[in-house]
Amino acid sequence: MADELTRHDAGPHAATWWTDAVVYQVYLRSFRDGNGDGVGDIAGLRAGLDHLVGLGVDAIWINPWFRSPGLDGGYDVADHRDLDPDFGTLADADALLSEAHERGLRVLLDLVPNHTSSAHPWFQAALAAPADSDDRGRYYFRQGRGHDGDQPPNNWTSAFGGPAWSRVPTADGEPGQWYLHLFSSCQPDLDWTHADVAEDFRETLRFWFDRGVDGFRIDVAHGLHKHGDLPDLPVGHASAAPGHPFWDRDQVHDVYRDWRSLADAYDPPRVFLAEAVADTVERRARYVRDDELHGVFAFDLLEARWTASDLRDAIDRTVAAHGEVTAPPTWVLSNHDVLRHPSRYARDQALVTGHNLVDVVDLQRDDELGDARARAAVLLLLALPGNVVLYQGEELGLHEVEDLPDDLRRDPVWERSDHQDPGRDGCRVPLPWAGDAPPFAFTSDPTVATGQPARWRDHTVAAMDRDPTSTLHLYRSALRIRRAHPALGVGAMSWVPADDGVLALRREPGFACWINLTDHPVRRPAGRVLLRSTAQADNGPDDDVWLRPHEAVWIDDPDVAAPDPLGTNG
Ligand code: GLC
Repeated sequence: MADELTRHDAGPHAATWWTDAVVYQVYLRSFRDGNGDGVGDIAGLRAGLDHLVGLGVDAIWINPWFRSPGLDGGYDVADHRDLDPDFGTLADADALLSEAHERGLRVLLDLVPNHTSSAHPWFQAALAAPADSDDRGRYYFRQGRGHDGDQPPNNWTSAFGGPAWSRVPTADGEPGQWYLHLFSSCQPDLDWTHADVAEDFRETLRFWFDRGVDGFRIDVAHGLHKHGDLPDLPVGHASAAPGHPFWDRDQVHDVYRDWRSLADAYDPPRVFLAEAVADTVERRARYVRDDELHGVFAFDLLEARWTASDLRDAIDRTVAAHGEVTAPPTWVLSNHDVLRHPSRYARDQALVTGHNLVDVVDLQRDDELGDARARAAVLLLLALPGNVVLYQGEELGLHEVEDLPDDLRRDPVWERSDHQDPGRDGCRVPLPWAGDAPPFAFTSDPTVATGQPARWRDHTVAAMDRDPTSTLHLYRSALRIRRAHPALGVGAMSWVPADDGVLALRREPGFACWINLTDHPVRRPAGRVLLRSTAQADNGPDDDVWLRPHEAVWIDDPDVAAPDPLGTNG
């Protein structure tokens, strides 16, 4: 069916490739190990490129691969213009870029401009320099409050728990100034009002763009500028609400206008995708105004419960906010920071209070239900207007590893919460590629402890490739159809009236996505079925007009009229 359709996008060299792209997020450390040392690396990614081409994605985004102590998964960068030796060399990076490009895949890296590693030469120079020196001016060093300055300069707290300030000794070993870290203490915040900072990041962008990198995801894009007085955060101030002293301040937009003009000077122009958290979707959409960034993650679906009304609200909010700017939304269900979505959907949605493992760990799990909802969810995701980012392993139907042994936990959240919050390691477990037992060909070293559960024998790339009903085949089919169908990608969408618990959306010309979120069959419109989320060897003859419980279906040329709202199988 879909094979009859031809690719509708503007071709591999189009400057607008980004608008309807499907990007695959590579968490390099756990993607695939190419040199047998137990750590995922560029050699492994090169070996895995064919899997991504077969999947049908347009681009990859690689989490930070720069030189780093690796205390926050590489988001603690010590040198932005060199590779971490765990991952390879600059020559390996160049080889990856050319092999990806030969296969028609674009490559986005991950820029971390809010902070550096405490091992960065700038921070080391700052530590060695006296208070009020220029070296300290690239970060936020301040005197403490209270008796002998033994209290932090203000009441800000770290996103990972605990105070956002740490105190350093003076040259003679006395307690000295404090420095700001909105994340862990190994991630000192840069002061973006210091001219060196902006200049150095421009150089980093040029360094990678000159090597052929197609763009960047921008980490914590909403954090770069702080209120000059570093005032206390008023009690009860909503996260990122306007006027917040460190999130989503207006000055950050000047940085992105500057970067946009730098990226536009390249041929083809390079692109940026922001991780930006703002108080409202309207404020978030400001990051993708005409002269700013190209994309900003719409985390609304990742945060929404699997109910028709929550999903619909999330979609409407985002689509409306993006209607005010020119950039289409970037949809996402999972990433390296949150609970894998099948594990979220495996819980009673009325009881789910958040999108991290800590929020759901005590709730009962129904993994089959989680699987069914997740398979339906990707059909929703790929039917929406805009572009999409998939997280590695979701095409294999992987769940969160919730019972990871403590000695495999590396997330600073785990330590900073005194082991109260298990953190994010359960979604960062190495991918299973082949074989019947861990490490499932992730690495050639059989002694490496990966934390992969034995049940992943049915989730390897090889096993899923053999099973035409697998989640991998569902993703491949969906991506193939999305690439070819003239209604998918950018463009308008509309809702079709449907029963409670049913989501039905139309795209033009002639496409509908119907999702049954209930546990009973419901009517759907007649029309040629392009794809259904429930597992079956082929789509079979289109001999019924029912949606199974928890099923999503893509329909070509649907009847314009919605079906009689029978609602149940009565
Ligand atoms: C972003 C990253 C996360 C990291 C944090 C600090 O939210 O996605 O993994 O820990 O920034 O850099």
